[in-house]
Amino acid sequence: MEKIVSLAKRRGFVFQSSEIYGGLNGCWDYGPLGVEMLNNLKQAWWRSMTFRDDVEGVDASILMHPRVWEASGHVANFTDPMVDCKQCKARYRVDVLMDELSLKKKKDILREMFPTEFEGQQKDERIESEFSTRFSNEATVTDALKKSIPCPNCGNKGTFTEARQFNLMFKTFVGPVEDTNNVVYLRHETAQGIFVNFMNVQSASRQKLPFGIAQSGKAFRNEINTKNFLFRTREFEQMEMQYFVKPGEEDKFFEYWREERMKWFLELGMKQENLQWHKHEKLAHYAKAAFDIEFKFPFGWGEIEGIHSRTDFDLGNHEKFSGKAMKYFDEQTKEKFVPFVIETSVGASRSFMAFLCASYDEEMVEGEMRTVLHLHPKLAPMKAAILPLVNRDGMDDIAHNMTKDLQKYFRVFYDDSGAIGRRYRRQDEIGTPYCFTVDSQTLQDQTVTVRERDSMRQERIAMSKVKEYLLEKI
Ligand code: GAP
Repeated sequence: MEKIVSLAKRRGFVFQSSEIYGGLNGCWDYGPLGVEMLNNLKQAWWRSMTFRDDVEGVDASILMHPRVWEASGHVANFTDPMVDCKQCKARYRVDVLMDELSLKKKKDILREMFPTEFEGQQKDERIESEFSTRFSNEATVTDALKKSIPCPNCGNKGTFTEARQFNLMFKTFVGPVEDTNNVVYLRHETAQGIFVNFMNVQSASRQKLPFGIAQSGKAFRNEINTKNFLFRTREFEQMEMQYFVKPGEEDKFFEYWREERMKWFLELGMKQENLQWHKHEKLAHYAKAAFDIEFKFPFGWGEIEGIHSRTDFDLGNHEKFSGKAMKYFDEQTKEKFVPFVIETSVGASRSFMAFLCASYDEEMVEGEMRTVLHLHPKLAPMKAAILPLVNRDGMDDIAHNMTKDLQKYFRVFYDDSGAIGRRYRRQDEIGTPYCFTVDSQTLQDQTVTVRERDSMRQERIAMSKVKEYLLEKI
């Protein structure tokens, strides 16, 4: 992870937000290459979602009427239990505190709380499973927090406050008066902008069920524990799609979208062994069924996308809270009903990080280490580098012209500094899939060499065919 974070900074993918002021926890800035790659990722998602007959797009505002979040249940439910240490004032999310205990600490806690049962040697797996079973409900967790769990910061036991519910939505005010009547929230999911526009989109586009609405954009969560680079941040981007179906058809479409979404990651170059399904046993307040796609990050498996069967919870509640009908009229059966919803929800920033991790590689080539990002050409920030072998005999002019021509269609990069091998390595490190080199043979027959990043194989092609070559590959 450290190597990836360092490469991301050095080569201009991701910087810490407000770094010159010491940074702001949970916020990151995308640099010149990062913004290209993030845009490519969002574009790939947008195309796969909306370049089809049954999904429309929207771009809703981040600030919404505060009643939206009451109707969605998030004012009441989007909370995490938190404790403070009375001694050192550190604040923790209870679930994270429990998750991050070392095996040794877990063993100590079990021994302290259940001395007769855990006095001897126990296998590590037994400790893990006993710990999660014994501390699976609020009462036992509260007991452990009071007696046996030490504060990770100051090490004291018995210093935690009672757990309190903490809402993760950021609040702000509209207009000049900062009072409770003017509170609005920064959206913590893009989904609600889709639900409130369901009737608008349906009547404007004249879509019939089943159909979907897709949106990508910023979301904000006042996460208490931001961690692991872009994995859990306070400001991030989501790409969400709500697919509206007839009640009774939700299971079929749930399976359909699960398959589609797994395929999307695989088609963009992820390996099956680095992806897995996680079925939710404990469901969010709106869900009937939920599966996550998890990616094997360097620090372990982590969710990158959730596929949720959301029933008619959201549309039904918006109908109740707004007093406006959210019913679909089925012309065939002449019935009116609130559609059910299948949601696909993927973090743009979190999957950006997953693609970086999945593509990062170090390999020995002719006795030297090469760092390479095996990014899918669709995601690569630069599609090609144009390299004059030397800066003379007109090679640089030809390469400049080629660059200008290609820049009408692709992000490509001109580089004439340093030995050719060094230039290839610099491109490998940022995932540029193709390098075109103009050399002395180009002057005679108007061909260039194309060097492919992953295999490092080279071939000659006509200079006039470079654009077609790239279009086909990308
Ligand atoms: N509308 C449903 C929803 O928001 P979620 O599981 O809370 O569901 C969906 O979030 C996705 O959004 C996650 O799989 C993850 O990729 C991304 N995400 C959620 N919280 C995040 C955070 N704090 N930082 C980065 N990405 C986050």
